[in-house]
Amino acid sequence: MGKERFVIIGGGRVGGVLAYHLQTAGFGVTGIVETSEQRRRRLQTLFPQIPLSQNLPSEWIPACDCLLICVPDDAIPALVQQLQAHRTFWKHHILAHTSGILPASILQPLKTAFVYLASVHPIFSFSTRPPSQHSLGGVYFDLEGDREAVAWFRSVITRLGGRCLTVTARQKKAIHLASVFYSNFLVGIVEGAQQILKQAGLSPPFHLEPFLPLVQATLENLSTLPPIEALTGPLKRGDVSTVRAHLEWLRQHLPSWFPVYTAICQALLPSLDLPPEKRHQLNRLFEKPWNGSDTP
Ligand SMILES: NC(=O)c1ccc[n+]([C@@H]2O[C@H](COP(=O)([O-])OP(=O)(O)OC[C@H]3O[C@@H](n4cnc5c(N)ncnc54)[C@H](OP(=O)(O)O)[C@@H]3O)[C@@H](O)[C@H]2O)c1
Repeated sequence: MGKERFVIIGGGRVGGVLAYHLQTAGFGVTGIVETSEQRRRRLQTLFPQIPLSQNLPSEWIPACDCLLICVPDDAIPALVQQLQAHRTFWKHHILAHTSGILPASILQPLKTAFVYLASVHPIFSFSTRPPSQHSLGGVYFDLEGDREAVAWFRSVITRLGGRCLTVTARQKKAIHLASVFYSNFLVGIVEGAQQILKQAGLSPPFHLEPFLPLVQATLENLSTLPPIEALTGPLKRGDVSTVRAHLEWLRQHLPSWFPVYTAICQALLPSLDLPPEKRHQLNRLFEKPWNGSDTP
């Protein structure tokens, strides 16, 4: 099996973790391009043997098989423009990016004969923790683009211990949106829960630990049941007075989280099997103009 060689552009959270795991799995990482000086210093410590540069040196191109772009989504169009200066150097290369939302075709201006394009999106949350603390075992990557590039990456990802999902550009957008619900909003909801507990005077050790069995049971339920069947709680039961008490508490103590509660309930309500009267009462509660004179 050949030793595929990568140049990574953007050595941030994703670029750093991929560089680490590619190296560990026996691939070559022949250079990292990173504009941030602070990040270059961190990369120097993490990967003392990998050459670093602020811009892509042309001589790096013949010495790699794949140029993997891991810069923020908004920086990709300008980077593509810059990379056009290197077009004459591409020969049998794979050009790819890790953006969740952008299609492989954003790289189309770089396409020449025998150059294959892909988008390679890890469905994962990369934090600022050290790269070695991120395991890619079992992580899904959604792949889209030229058939040759997608097949090439399927082999690379499998060797990294990851799993592949070949998708269309439209499906890819939906996967990214769903990932925001699964990850970012989940974190947002946990922040809301902890603000509620803090507001009620509970100390930090009790902001998470007492709730972990509840969270774990919910995740277990979700692994075997559709979400509406896994749902429990006052909305599912149609306990109008309990929902009203929650809303009153939020209105008084944490008004910025009030619309979060009502928006989630309103989105769930049409899927719930409730008697029409309960549904009507709940709907009225969510639509009510909650102001000082409006006693719930
Ligand atoms: N983080 C995640 O969990 C995650 C998961 C899946 C996919 N992704 C995707 O992966 C990509 C990178 O995300 P990230 O979270 O790793 O971003 P990040 O931590 O901000 O890292 C990106 C790095 O690229 C640098 N950069 C910007 N423009 C550059 C250029 N022209 N040449 C070289 N370096 C450049 C940035 O420097 P400056 O800070 O100076 O701009 C930054 O250090 C994005 O497309 C994102 O959608 C992220």
